[in-house]
Amino acid sequence: MVAAPKAARQAAKIALRPYSPEDFESLYEIDQACYAPGIAYSRPELRAYLRFPNADCVIAAMRGKTVGFCLTAHRENRGHIITIDVLEGYRRHKIGSRLLEAVESRLAESGVREVILETATENHSAIAFWEKHGYRTRGIWKGYYPGGRDAYAMIKSIA
Ligand SMILES: CC(C)(COP(=O)(O)OP(=O)(O)OC[C@H]1O[C@@H](n2cnc3c(N)ncnc32)[C@H](O)[C@@H]1OP(=O)(O)O)[C@@H](O)C(=O)NCCC(=O)NCCS
Repeated sequence: MVAAPKAARQAAKIALRPYSPEDFESLYEIDQACYAPGIAYSRPELRAYLRFPNADCVIAAMRGKTVGFCLTAHRENRGHIITIDVLEGYRRHKIGSRLLEAVESRLAESGVREVILETATENHSAIAFWEKHGYRTRGIWKGYYPGGRDAYAMIKSIA
């Protein structure tokens, strides 16, 4: 039998589950580790996003350790990816892909037909990730992030 590629084997060990309030501190720490100071969410910001109308958050855990999450919200038929975070040591093992597929499927079940997001124009790994998953740039938000960094606005139809 041919061995499965390493990334596929790692992804198979990942368990996905919905967020519950006891996950909050892990999510905060992961977000702090994933983004530069000023861009990472403060606790009040993260709490506020988790309380958005129709907010949904999926957690990825490996052997009981939370290693990533994806937070979305939606209004009517438009979904918004608020953030996706995978701890650095666990990247390129399809954990982000598993999270994204899970949230897109949950959004679709809620009637969402298109998903939007913003990503920093210098975040080349994230741009490659989004493009790999069918997201396309639809414009630039100048000075979108603290410190004046620009963002691409990206969109994907999931209809
Ligand atoms: C973006 C992020 C969530 C991707 O998570 P991940 O688990 O590493 O992604 P995957 O392993 O599922 O990658 C799937 C594909 O995306 C692309 N990709 C992901 N990371 C990439 C990188 N660093 N460079 C180039 N392509 C990349 C590749 O096509 C990859 O497939 P491959 O590994 O077979 O080549 C992760 O890098 C991360 O948490 N970054 C920090 C936070 C962030 O920037 N979030 C997005 C902001 S909007």
